[in-house]
Amino acid sequence: MSEHPIKNIEDLQSNTTNEKQVETKSPHELWGGRFADGPSAIMQQINASIGIDKALYREDIEGSKAHCRMLVATGILSGDDGALILKGLDQVEGEIARGEMIFDPMLEDIHMHVEHRLRQIIGETAGRLHTARSRNDQVATDFRLWVRRTLDRLDEDLVAFQKALVDRADEHADTLMPGFTHLQTAQPVTFGHHLMAYYEMIKRDRGRLVDCRRRVNECPLGAAALAGTSFPIDRNMTAKELGFDRPTANSLDAVSDRDFALEMMAALNIAAMHLTRFAEELVIWTSAGFGFVTLSDSFSTGSSIMPQKRNPDAAELVRAKLGRVNGSYQTLLMVMKGLPLAYSKDMQEDKEPVFEAVEAFTLSLAAMTGMIRDLTVNADKMAAAAGAAFSTATDLADWLVRVVNVPFRDAHHITGRVVKRAEELNLSLEDMPLAELTAVDERITAACLAVLSPLASATSRISYGGTSPERVREAVALAREQLG
Ligand code: ARG
Repeated sequence: MSEHPIKNIEDLQSNTTNEKQVETKSPHELWGGRFADGPSAIMQQINASIGIDKALYREDIEGSKAHCRMLVATGILSGDDGALILKGLDQVEGEIARGEMIFDPMLEDIHMHVEHRLRQIIGETAGRLHTARSRNDQVATDFRLWVRRTLDRLDEDLVAFQKALVDRADEHADTLMPGFTHLQTAQPVTFGHHLMAYYEMIKRDRGRLVDCRRRVNECPLGAAALAGTSFPIDRNMTAKELGFDRPTANSLDAVSDRDFALEMMAALNIAAMHLTRFAEELVIWTSAGFGFVTLSDSFSTGSSIMPQKRNPDAAELVRAKLGRVNGSYQTLLMVMKGLPLAYSKDMQEDKEPVFEAVEAFTLSLAAMTGMIRDLTVNADKMAAAAGAAFSTATDLADWLVRVVNVPFRDAHHITGRVVKRAEELNLSLEDMPLAELTAVDERITAACLAVLSPLASATSRISYGGTSPERVREAVALAREQLG
């Protein structure tokens, strides 16, 4: 993603394929006559952003077309000039899409590249496109369009992940596994319930991104450099053409705001954190000590020395990728920190971290979706572990409260003594002879044995949001409805 701009130019010089040779004009020609000498190589290198912002070419041209149509509609530009510009922009777009555009750091950024190429194609009329516009409102518009498109795509990816979770949860609504607190076996739960916990997290993640989209969807175009313009532009028209809800209300804010990107990244940080929790669980569950699940061949790697090894690399990498997502967020936040209004060139450093975070997140999400879809559940191992470590002790205490009417604190104490005795005898609670139970407390009867199996325990947890297969099936049905 971060191509070195100077290296770019060397590549270009040795390139003699069908690419159209651009006769490079110094951007100074675009800025006017005040700059006699060209920039030094270092100045060019630090100033150029084309290596990054070329990714915005579609948005840039879309924005230019909307601006052009508005200039014609408001009589600022003649219909003929407008038509010529639109046709030229189509050609530029096609050339870039086909990889024919030669990117040159001398031309700084994508905005200058498009305008420069347009001038080569249609001549001086190209210069009229920049009426009532600045690169400041242009880049803010491009970037908002990109973030909006990305948010829509991310939502689709998150839905695909949710669907994978729901499908597997449906399949495993009855599958028992140990539920943990402190990673210590706590109470039996169903695997379907565990999967649906992630469904809920992702639902909130999607909500945050949808909310962010609402604020992204305002159009900065027409704010011009910072103060607005004296031309009779129609900002509502450009906003509408570009699918924005409305134009931004303050021109200074319009060109200097990058909240929309920060907000997306903040939401992605939380979502990526959720993925790391699941990834960590996969690492734990695939280890020999657990053996709860087996990842498919397509999502496992081997060891170059140990032939028996099967490593959960993808899950580990998902765990690690949060580093990038979070580092990128910090980068943009630090770029924006303390910047006086309005635009400052610092802000050109905004796109690279956002692109990096989105790429890392997208890949992590795809890997998690694939792993969940494909993994094999080792239900026997899960069920055995679900009944280990006296996981149904709470059920015995609850039974004492419900049937014998013992206060819960006392029931907790009695159950503690039963567990201690079971430990001494090396027996599970389920397998304790009744005589051993009544020796601890005579009020315990054979009826209590029915609640001590992991299946009975999980099945009994029918409270709203609980782990019983019945509740899981309801949650799955509701989720399917929500996903449409
Ligand atoms: N390449 C610039 C950026 O990404 C475009 C805006 C340049 N504006 C300026 N006043 N130099 O921020």
